[in-house]
Amino acid sequence: MSRLIVVSNRVPNPDRPPAGGLAVAVRAALNERGGIWLGWSGKSCGEEEPGPLVRREEGPITYALTDLSDRDLSEYYQGFANSVLWPLCHYRIDLTDYARRDARGYFRVNRIFAERLAPLVQPDDLIWIHDYHLIPLASELRRMGLRNRIGFFLHIPWPAPDVYLTLPISEMLLRAMTACDLIGFQTEFDAENFGLCLKRSGIALPVPGEDGIYQVSDGMPEEISGRRFKVGAFPIGIDSEAFARTARNAVRNPAMRKFRESLGGQQLIVGVDRLDYTKGLPQRMNGYRRFLEANPNWLGRVTFLQITPKSRSGVAEYDALQREVAELAGHTAGALGQIDWTPVRYMNRALGHHVLAGIYRMARVALVTPLRDGMNLVAKEYVAAQDPEDPGILILSRFAGAAYELGRGSLLVNPYDEEAIANAIAQAVSMPREKRQELHAIAAEKLSKNSVFDWCADYLDQLAPPQTVAETPA
Ligand code: G6P
Repeated sequence: MSRLIVVSNRVPNPDRPPAGGLAVAVRAALNERGGIWLGWSGKSCGEEEPGPLVRREEGPITYALTDLSDRDLSEYYQGFANSVLWPLCHYRIDLTDYARRDARGYFRVNRIFAERLAPLVQPDDLIWIHDYHLIPLASELRRMGLRNRIGFFLHIPWPAPDVYLTLPISEMLLRAMTACDLIGFQTEFDAENFGLCLKRSGIALPVPGEDGIYQVSDGMPEEISGRRFKVGAFPIGIDSEAFARTARNAVRNPAMRKFRESLGGQQLIVGVDRLDYTKGLPQRMNGYRRFLEANPNWLGRVTFLQITPKSRSGVAEYDALQREVAELAGHTAGALGQIDWTPVRYMNRALGHHVLAGIYRMARVALVTPLRDGMNLVAKEYVAAQDPEDPGILILSRFAGAAYELGRGSLLVNPYDEEAIANAIAQAVSMPREKRQELHAIAAEKLSKNSVFDWCADYLDQLAPPQTVAETPA
């Protein structure tokens, strides 16, 4: 079995248990095959130049991390990745802040990653690149002569062509992606959008009769003309059995009991998101307030707990959003709160996985209403955490990747429609147990069919199809 090399901007800390299912699954694949996980250390070295690669062996896995300079972080991470690609892929052209200097910095840092990685790669290694920070990495590796199988997986949405093609270097990025052998997306819809972008730019076309195979068009630069690669959807899953176990255990711990007591029999509605403008937080807060205004019989009988760790501080939109959401939460509490009841508990701290699992299990409703989201694993974790005998209800945005799998097992909403959110909350809090069981069973079945381990295995099988053993004549 080939070694695996994983490259991602963030690398989980080897000293801590991995926080999410993705890290667990990727680590399991690395443990099985042996290999390297390379990325940014999460730190700045302050200097003009990035720091050296620091390697650390943990059994069969080598973690290889590099500090980046302040300039790299400003141009590559805050600049092109998070002020151009992130809003663009989430359909927020209005928030993209394109600067050539940042785009150059983005390519420069990708080249630095390639230069660091190339000497560590052996000829049979599989290389798996993750997410929008590292779109041109494969082409940089090819430029350095690597002929390995290279896969790229995008964790966020790929937008419709009319949105994507507003990017001044749209074609350059698409061409760079043709250096991969496999390009994976969260949903069929993203994969289709990507195919349309290739076609509209005249860069590559699907090969008739060969599912998901594209061929770079004639007339493209010589080194890629005619090259074939595969495009597909690989919806990421979770380890739902493990998460369900964690949730069952979590509700028994004393801190969780105390939390339950603090609710005093009220129904709990929960939201958990990074503080990000893609998550639809203002619309959600307004939707909840409208629910209370339209259904005063629920005043004093529900609590909305919104857990929203701060993210990407320093990028202007995130700082503005922080103020807006805090204001809206304060407004609802001020307008509708009573001396012995507060309608919203809003916090900007991150909570551990165990605590979250316990909260999900206690919550009668989860509000997962992003305006756009690649997948959204909170939706999946919430479903996994439920007691199948008395489950809660997921209110899910139709624009989250998770809606493709969980749509029929949840209450789907248009996250821009605050009244629809209010109505869905009203429906969820008064839904009879049997109906809740029915919806939960549909969603839970979907989860059981696609674990994060399946996701990882499917992707790697398609990146390097297992060798078929030639039949030997008897
Ligand atoms: C999204 C991206 C990840 C990213 C995470 C946190 O889930 O797909 O690649 O790591 O957000 O954002 P941050 O900027 O803190 O890494």
